[in-house]
This record gives sequence, structure tokens and C-alpha cells, in this order.
Amino acid sequence: MYETINLTVGEHQYPIYVGSDLLSNADLLRPHVAGRRAFLISNETVGPLFAPTLRQVLTDVELDEHFLPDGEAFKTLDRVTETVEHLIARGHTRDTTIVALGGGVVGDTAGFTAAVYQRGVPFVQIPTTLLAQVDASVGGKTAVNHALGKNMIGAFYQPQAVVIDTDTLNSLPERERIAGVAEVIKHGIMADKTYFAWVEAHLENILAQDPEVMSHAIARSCQIKSEIVADDEKEKGRRALLNLGHTFGHAIESALGYGEWLHGEAVGAGLVMAADLSARMKMLAPSDAFRIRSVVEKAGLPAMPPLQVVDQLRELMSRDKKASDAGLRLILVRSIGEAVVVPDVPEALIAETISAREALCGG
Ligand SMILES: NC(=O)c1ccc[n+]([C@@H]2O[C@H](COP(=O)([O-])OP(=O)(O)OC[C@H]3O[C@@H](n4cnc5c(N)ncnc54)[C@H](O)[C@@H]3O)[C@@H](O)[C@H]2O)c1
Ligand SMILES: [Zn+2]
Repeated sequence: MYETINLTVGEHQYPIYVGSDLLSNADLLRPHVAGRRAFLISNETVGPLFAPTLRQVLTDVELDEHFLPDGEAFKTLDRVTETVEHLIARGHTRDTTIVALGGGVVGDTAGFTAAVYQRGVPFVQIPTTLLAQVDASVGGKTAVNHALGKNMIGAFYQPQAVVIDTDTLNSLPERERIAGVAEVIKHGIMADKTYFAWVEAHLENILAQDPEVMSHAIARSCQIKSEIVADDEKEKGRRALLNLGHTFGHAIESALGYGEWLHGEAVGAGLVMAADLSARMKMLAPSDAFRIRSVVEKAGLPAMPPLQVVDQLRELMSRDKKASDAGLRLILVRSIGEAVVVPDVPEALIAETISAREALCGG
């Protein structure tokens, strides 16, 4: 049993399959490898876990493999160049399909490699972290990091298909799983109050990895992201709403030093801060801000920035980010299920949110 979400971006349409035991389902994957050759990109942790299954499924495909070292530190142009060297050395042409097997780091690196190798070859995403399944693998953003900034070198490049096998999450460390839940919560807050309420009600099942509940959560998140991407592939408008909680989140990641908190953990705190600020702006009912905080806390995510970076955060959030003299441009919450861009958030209120150690109201 699986669900299919069809994502249309301009002329290009592709399926996102979500369900259990999909990796071994030859009927699903095989049609998306058009030629007789494929090139699997994974990493040293994930490759050994799932590549053997793929090899069994793609029996009539000549499958080459390249496993990167594990970690964000290897999401670089050097590793793309190295991968391209392997592609060339093994004589891969434009008919080869690149298969990305792993979390967001592998997906971003492999996706960018697919976008640039011989000006673009087909690729398929097989995301194996919750974060990659609900976020990174959907929407066609690919990028690698530069020493001067994250995701500075990239391309919009859509895959032929995304195959999400929920069973792959069984081996994922708990901390990574919980981090992915932050993006699930984000999708509810920004776009669908019914989904948010469902996540609230099923949080324990999500944390316990109940397969049916996970499938629904992933499928609904992919649907929400797909609808937005279909509308605004290149982030000229509405796609920016997907960054809810991320301005605060990125500031926390950068203040602490990347890698100290997982991205999803910083987003968890960022969502609570966006809600707190929305309440201070009198846009959002304090009781809704409290609901957001509660679900983030119950998920086991941090709900506020670490005390030691509070001063730094204030500085990071004020520097270079001014949209107007009136204040900063941020994504806030008008109600649960509706995020909005606010162009002129007063700095004083942002500072209050950053320093707040408690919820605005008792609940
Ligand atoms: N392209 C986009 O739209 C987009 C969106 C969000 C994030 N991202 C990017 O995604 C990256 C983060 O992705 P991530 O959170 O998936 O991190 P990740 O890719 O580093 O994976 C986290 C860890 O889990 C391991 N792992 C992955 N799947 C596993 C499995 N099934 N079992 C056991 N271990 C497994 C990985 O090897 C790694 O050690 C960042 O680089 C971020 O910039 C991209
Ligand atoms: Zn994110």
C-alpha cells in the first residue's frame, strides 16, 4: 500500500510515492530509470544499509555506485567534482539516471550533480531521513555549501520521481527523527490547521514510528509542500512561507556553530519564536502560540534558543536584514494554518521574543 502525490512544476510532472516496503518494489522504481544504466549516490552510512536492496530490484540495470563520506562537511563542490570524475571515468552519458539514496545532504549533493553533469541527467530521489522525506527531497532545490555560506552553489532541478519508503526510518537515530518532526509541525502551522490538530493528536504515534501514522504525516507534508512548489517553483512569492521558523532557526544554528544543534532542532525553537512574536504583534492569539509551543515541546524539540547565544542572536537578527526603517521582514503566523510575510516587524519586539524564557500566557 502506498500513496502517490503528483507534483507539477511547469511542464514537468513527477510522482512522489509514500509507503512501507517500497525500496524492494521493482514496479515502482524501475520505470523511472529510463536508460539501461544508473549511478547510485549515497553515503558510507546509508549506502551499505539499502544499496543491496536496490541492486536486487534493478537487476536489468547496470548500476554503478559512489558513496560519499557521511556529513554536512562533505556537501561541497569538491565532492561534486569527485563524483563527476567517477561518472566520466565509467563512461556515463546523458542517458544515465542518478539515484540519490540518503538524507538531505546526499539528496542535495546528488541532485546538484545530476543538474550539472553533461548539463543535466535524469535523477530519482530516495530520501532516508524524515527531514529529507518531508522536505529536502521535494521541490527541486539542490545545492552544496561554500566556505562562505551554506547552500551557496546550487540549481533548481526536479527529479523524475521521489520514492519514500517509511521503513528506512527504522534505522534512523532518534535525534534525527525528532528533528524531522519540526518540519512536519511547520507544515501544519503554515498551511493546514486540521493537519496541525491531527499532528497534535497523533504525536505519540509519530514519535513511536507507527507506520500508518508516519505514512500519513509524510504524505500530507509532501502534499502541502508540493502545492506550494507547483505554484512558485523559484521562490518568488508563496514558497518563502516554507521558511517559517527558519530565520530564527538559521540564526541559532549560526550563533551556536553549525552542527551543534540539528537543523530541525533549531527550526523547532524557531517555530515557537515565530509564534511568540506573532502574539506580541497581536496577530496571533496567545493561546495558539501556546499550542504551538506545547506541540514542539512534546515532540522533544527545544522551544527556545540556548541562553548563551541570546545576545548574539539579537545582533544576527538586526544586522543586514532590515527591509525598511520600520523593521525586519519575517514570516509570522496569523492563525494556526496560515503563515504570512510581514515586511516590517519592529526590532524591539524581536528582541523581546529572543530574550523570552517563558510562554506569553500560561495557556
Ligand atoms: N533541498 C532542500 O529543499 C532542502 C530542504 C531542507 C534541508 N536541506 C538540506 O538537507 C540537509 C540535512 O538533511 P538531513 O537532516 O537529512 O541530514 P543528513 O543527510 O546529514 O542525515 C542525517 C544523518 O542520518 C544518517 N542517515 C540517513 N538516513 C539514515 C537511515 N535511514 N538510517 C540511519 N542513518 C541514516 C546520515 O548518514 C546522517 O548521518 C542539509 O544539508 C540541508 O541544507 C535541503
Ligand atoms: Zn528546514
